[in-house]
Amino acid sequence: MTAGVNRSAVRPGLLAAVGNAVWSAEQMVENALVGWTPNHIPDLSGKVALVTGGNSGIGFEVCRKLVENCATVLRVSRDRERGEAAAQQIRADGGGLSIEVLTADLLSLDEVERLIREVKRRTKATGLHMLLANAGERGGNATPFQPGGYASSPEGLEQTLAVDYYAHVRLVLGLLEELERGAPARVVLQASQAEQFCTLDFNNLKGDKFTDSGMAPYGSSKLWKLMFGDELQRRLRAKGGKAAQIDVFGVHPGLVDSPLMDKADMGRHLNAALIVLQNAVLGMPTWRGSLPALYALTEPRLQGAGFRYIGPNWANTNMLGVRTPGNRLWRTGGPELRARLFDGTVSVLKDVGHMPSHVPKGLVK
Ligand SMILES: NC(=O)c1ccc[n+]([C@@H]2O[C@H](COP(=O)([O-])OP(=O)(O)OC[C@H]3O[C@@H](n4cnc5c(N)ncnc54)[C@H](OP(=O)(O)O)[C@@H]3O)[C@@H](O)[C@H]2O)c1
Repeated sequence: MTAGVNRSAVRPGLLAAVGNAVWSAEQMVENALVGWTPNHIPDLSGKVALVTGGNSGIGFEVCRKLVENCATVLRVSRDRERGEAAAQQIRADGGGLSIEVLTADLLSLDEVERLIREVKRRTKATGLHMLLANAGERGGNATPFQPGGYASSPEGLEQTLAVDYYAHVRLVLGLLEELERGAPARVVLQASQAEQFCTLDFNNLKGDKFTDSGMAPYGSSKLWKLMFGDELQRRLRAKGGKAAQIDVFGVHPGLVDSPLMDKADMGRHLNAALIVLQNAVLGMPTWRGSLPALYALTEPRLQGAGFRYIGPNWANTNMLGVRTPGNRLWRTGGPELRARLFDGTVSVLKDVGHMPSHVPKGLVK
């Protein structure tokens, strides 16, 4: 297994090398216990994957492995130049030519719609087999450790929710026909243990009542994604036919030393020290953080499994464990709350003029 190429700049090289060695040793033990490594990924020839947020970090590692195993990867980047540079790196590492860069800033639902049209065009002959909803960021300068102000999208949605939640919901609903044509197919939603900090107020589904684009919307986007995914799975199964052959999974990577961590404003407060410490001591290399997503996207034994939430425990071990979100909203709200959030999300998309017209009856009211 190769080391991640995108180590956080806050982590000194020697410490990162030691960390990588420790996590590699730990991974060998887990591989022996669980019996799955990326070497178990089947031949993906003829399969098409769409990955958001693949320029760096976890998404980059996922793209690399999918391409290595012969999938065609459509990778979404908000910046053409950086997207091409990352694709070139994968090609130079021997990944062949089956990686293509699509550009879209997921902050804008107009751009998401343009992206959907482009994906439809490119998957006309094949359908779509894997969709990894991975891109995410905390808005503005905000991080869990430091407030950084409120920011919103062109449609007036809070920025983190707009990118991480609404863009991906729109993408999945807009590409259902392509997923059906590719079925058996998979939708994998990247979440986080930050789901613990989720709040859900049906008067604040747009997030415009948050005062800061920090942890509250970040944690909310993550649990909302899981709730949406669980409900989507139920509705796809109920619809039957090809739709029932789409599996939806939630994953989380654990604490990963990725460029996401660099987005903290290191010049401020005690937070900088906290982030350095957190990364240095606990952060895993990106190759390890990519394992839950790769497993959920490709493991044949998961076919037909229904919604699962896969990722490590708090100690960053047992990477492929099946988890229950820790937030009480998941436990106490049950399927009714998930259905209500699903319908509320659709209402928000309608309200801002971005609900796809062709979503089959039964999936939305
Ligand atoms: N690192 C962790 O410890 C951790 C823990 C739990 C969950 N996660 C989740 O894992 C996922 C990947 O994060 P990462 O750690 O690999 O960090 P990362 O390297 O910063 O990856 C985030 C990706 O999202 C893309 N992105 C952000 N905003 C976008 C936008 N408006 N339009 C298009 N693309 C956008 C970024 O693109 P650019 O290259 O253009 O910035 C980047 O490629 C995220 O959903 C994150 O929340 C990470």
